[in-house]
Amino acid sequence: MSKTALVTGASKGIGLETVRRLAASDLDITTIVLMARASDAYDENFATLEAEVPAGVTLVRETVDVGDREALIAAIERVYAQVGNIDFLINNAGYTNPVPIHQVDFADFERTIAVNVYGPFTLVQELLHRGNRFEVIVNIASTAGIGGRSGWLTYSASKAAVINMSEVMRDELKIFGTRVVCLSPGRTATDLRKVLAPDEDPSTIMQPQHVAQVIETMLGPTGQYVDQQNVIVRQ
Ligand SMILES: NC(=O)c1ccc[n+]([C@@H]2O[C@H](COP(=O)([O-])OP(=O)(O)OC[C@H]3O[C@@H](n4cnc5c(N)ncnc54)[C@H](OP(=O)(O)O)[C@@H]3O)[C@@H](O)[C@H]2O)c1
Repeated sequence: MSKTALVTGASKGIGLETVRRLAASDLDITTIVLMARASDAYDENFATLEAEVPAGVTLVRETVDVGDREALIAAIERVYAQVGNIDFLINNAGYTNPVPIHQVDFADFERTIAVNVYGPFTLVQELLHRGNRFEVIVNIASTAGIGGRSGWLTYSASKAAVINMSEVMRDELKIFGTRVVCLSPGRTATDLRKVLAPDEDPSTIMQPQHVAQVIETMLGPTGQYVDQQNVIVRQ
């Protein structure tokens, strides 16, 4: 039976590579919704992907700020009306603005929580309210959610929340046959990593394709045999 996937933060980095892998996978995915904010990068990468995905796979555009709850709910409504049930939800969009405690702007802390925590929660709850039956939900946390580091207060706090929120989702949603996977990548060569570690040489660390490959595995039959207590992916 053909399946539908929704990937947030699909305009670049781990999300983009995840869409690429899912389109080419043998998971019977025929529709993939790419959620991110409108940007030139989104348009360019969407066009590139459209040209390369196998025949029979449809890519669906959905540009929205996942940190804007009202806009996100409207987007969920649109997407659900257009594609129907979401079998695989990849909550991958993420935001960080690392600064020392003294410089944390409260509005920015709220924004971090809105994008990284309320966004995934809203997607899951709003889809459940519409009768959606998820097969697998993947929440992308971070090793920063397990151990804090100087300057990463808002990001670490948000990712710790993702790890624990995922445990509750896993426990509550198993009666619906839903698997909830929490993945915590370590250092991965993306734009977000450049914000966290501007001086690092990206060629020396994990690439987004590697994380995407693990996500694909977790969605498939092998995934159910992996311990799903916050799976750490790092070099
Ligand atoms: N790279 C690492 O070292 C690392 C390590 C651990 C965990 N992670 C996590 O991996 C996930 C993916 O990040 P990445 O490393 O692949 O970084 P990235 O290349 O910078 O991608 C981040 C994605 O999130 C989207 N996004 C950010 N804010 C958004 C918003 N308000 N609304 C909608 N989409 C938004 C971005 O899209 P637009 O900006 O175009 O909207 C982009 O598609 C994040 O959750 C991140 O925290 C990354």
